Amino acid sequence: MRHLMSPLDFSVEELDKLMDLANDIERHPDKYAHVCEGRILATLFYEPSTRTRLSFESAMLRLGGKVLGFSNAASSSAAKGESVSDTIRMISCYADICAMRHNKEGAPMVASQVSGIPVINAGDGGHQHPTQTLTDMLTIRSLKGHLNHLKIGLCGDLKFGRTVHSLINALVRYDDISFVFISPEELRIPDYIREDVLDAKGVSYEEVERLEDVIGNLDILYMTRVQRERFFNEEDYVRLKDFYILDKKKMKLAGPDMLVLHPLPRVNEISVEVDSDPRAAYFRQVQYGVYVRMALILTLLEVNV
Ligand code: NCD
Repeated sequence: MRHLMSPLDFSVEELDKLMDLANDIERHPDKYAHVCEGRILATLFYEPSTRTRLSFESAMLRLGGKVLGFSNAASSSAAKGESVSDTIRMISCYADICAMRHNKEGAPMVASQVSGIPVINAGDGGHQHPTQTLTDMLTIRSLKGHLNHLKIGLCGDLKFGRTVHSLINALVRYDDISFVFISPEELRIPDYIREDVLDAKGVSYEEVERLEDVIGNLDILYMTRVQRERFFNEEDYVRLKDFYILDKKKMKLAGPDMLVLHPLPRVNEISVEVDSDPRAAYFRQVQYGVYVRMALILTLLEVNV
């Protein structure tokens, strides 16, 4: 039985197969509409989410399966003190696969060690968010045609943003990838990513503060929200929250083929005036998120179509 804790749990070849499957689902949704009949997905969300939880539920429903679960810790037995390990043992009797989001780093991993069903990490604290990464990769591969030879700018909260950490981890396995990290001093990428992932693999990167200085050289601009819930004090959040606002004026400095991605939710970091720009890909990204989660469910349940 396989789980998904990090994008590195799949080899590059396996990820290619998964994304091929997602693109086939995109082209022929009818072929997949009933393949999970009789199967149940549990969504165990101890932390707020709209997109990820509904995207998993939509994915399972579009495969003909059913869903159950909870969307905040207060309405689950966690409020009575039940451990994640006990909860997953019980859920293993109710469902065939589960997606878990938790504010504690490593909680889905603990669950996977005692689980009777495949566990998908749907975001653990500031650590990883592998299904968002699969979404980001499928979006880039589908719209650009490849995952090699890209200069990727990551902008905003690179310290607490788990989507950023997962994406860097996943992309360093491709050829000729370079990164531009755009953040205020306080929100720079963590040292462990710099040392254990980038330096260890000899990946080229630069760190800058001003988006205007680098936007013209990027193939992808990945914008992120300042992660209010992971700050230690409100004052720092207020000072940093509007550090970057991508608007039409800045988009004028970017190349004609640069794509703007964002895991969403956005707060202020992308002005709504950018939404109608053909380079804005963040709403198409949401749609790819459903296809890739459908492909992931089929892969982990070993359903062959
Ligand atoms: C992200 C997350 O939860 O980390 N959202 C998502 O899953 N699409 C990004 C965020 O909350 O900023």
